[in-house]
Amino acid sequence: MGKRQEIEISTAEAKRQMDIISQLAHHIQGKNLKFCITTFGCQMNAHDSEKIQGMLSKMGYSETDKEAEADLILYNTCCVRENAENRIYGKLGYLKKLKRANPNLLIALCGCMMQQDIVLETLKKTYRHVDMIFGTYNIYKLPELLQTRFETGKPVIDIWDSHQDIVEDLPNERKYPFKSCVNIMYGCNNFCTYCIVPYVRGRERSRNPEDILKEIHALVEDGVKEIMLLGQNVNSYGKTLDIPMTFADLIREVNKIEGLERLRFMTSHPKDLSDDLILAMSECDKLCNSLHLPFQAGSTDVLTRMNRRYTKEQYLALVSKVKATMPHIALTTDIIIGFPGETEEDFQETMDVVRQVRFASAFTFVYSKRTGTPAATMDNQIEEVVSKDRFNRLLDLVHEIQVDYMESFIGHHTDVLLEEVSKHDPNLLSGRTSESVLVHVKADPSEIGKIVDIKITGAKTHYLIGECL
Ligand code: 5AD
Ligand code: SF4
Repeated sequence: MGKRQEIEISTAEAKRQMDIISQLAHHIQGKNLKFCITTFGCQMNAHDSEKIQGMLSKMGYSETDKEAEADLILYNTCCVRENAENRIYGKLGYLKKLKRANPNLLIALCGCMMQQDIVLETLKKTYRHVDMIFGTYNIYKLPELLQTRFETGKPVIDIWDSHQDIVEDLPNERKYPFKSCVNIMYGCNNFCTYCIVPYVRGRERSRNPEDILKEIHALVEDGVKEIMLLGQNVNSYGKTLDIPMTFADLIREVNKIEGLERLRFMTSHPKDLSDDLILAMSECDKLCNSLHLPFQAGSTDVLTRMNRRYTKEQYLALVSKVKATMPHIALTTDIIIGFPGETEEDFQETMDVVRQVRFASAFTFVYSKRTGTPAATMDNQIEEVVSKDRFNRLLDLVHEIQVDYMESFIGHHTDVLLEEVSKHDPNLLSGRTSESVLVHVKADPSEIGKIVDIKITGAKTHYLIGECL
């Protein structure tokens, strides 16, 4: 399909859904209906939930964080690891009771977990109190699905097995007025052998740069200071566009936007992180001082079986290149422990990478077997006790290095975007440094949304303590 035609279809589709939103708003008006949404998983899901919130608010629903008060409960699900799925099934059991107490309650499930046949079968058989199920490709259809549910009174299940067009310009409700995520691409073509994402989020496709820039301009005009560009593998942005564009050039364009103060992106795949991107990162003054670069495992043998397409040495060389250009950059990473066949020696290679790179922080995971991925049927699945023991040793090392990193801020000044009143102390505000490190500081709530100069006076493993100047 040509680009022109695709744009026309997506605009027409957005308009159709907006018309349905208006009709539903009529129906919902005066009923004081509330929705409660719970999001599992990554930033991509969090951003999808903002789109859902935007559509529901336009219909006249108000949001509540209490499920017992809600007329519509939504779970935006994740299936990257098994425990995320188990939590959803657990919650669904509890919702059965709520539904018995309030038969008008609607329960909707969406997101990655719904894209798996086995999950759909289980839901249809065992969780028949669910009213609406949709997937990752058709979130924008929510108004239409809800309308069908209201009209027929029957469960609505709509799961697509691939994407159609990218639908632009639907409402979107930001969690913070001053920062926002922006999708630049969807899906993933990498097929790491442990990962279910390519199966539930489909093939890689990039949004047109004009649409991305238009969205960011509008967000900045609306008060946004910080943008996070989102994709499963942002470094391969633009390769499939009619007129290809590199990610480096995209961030150069975004960096020019007046009024924008901070720019972030995630996630980067090491195999696609080009020299030009490193150059662009050092040139673009709005880019934050951090880079999330998952390495997953230290042993080249494990990396090969993971289909990561780099060696331990290549990863370390890449990190050296990044650090040579940006010596103070905060590197963060994802690590998986207990991949099939991982030996103690392989594990020591992972520890070695952590020691050499000295990550500012790391997300550590125990390997979780995902049905349908190549790793699920590999020999030598690792026993839980072995994985847990390695996991704990890794966590100790990661924390030890993290504490050193956090302490290195003490006595220094740093810019912090103040984001909200601290969840633990109403006298404190919480914010983030350019490195994305959490800071608590005594300040007036009127300062929320501002980037202020803070002196760091103390450090814990997961946050800093500062003083406003
Ligand atoms: N088991 C454990 N961790 C996983 N991840 C992805 N798939 C799995 C799995 N099957 C981790 C990877 C990825 C992060 C988002 O989740 O580290 O980078
Ligand atoms: Fe999963 Fe690998 Fe794609 Fe990341 S790059 S989403 S880990 S397949």
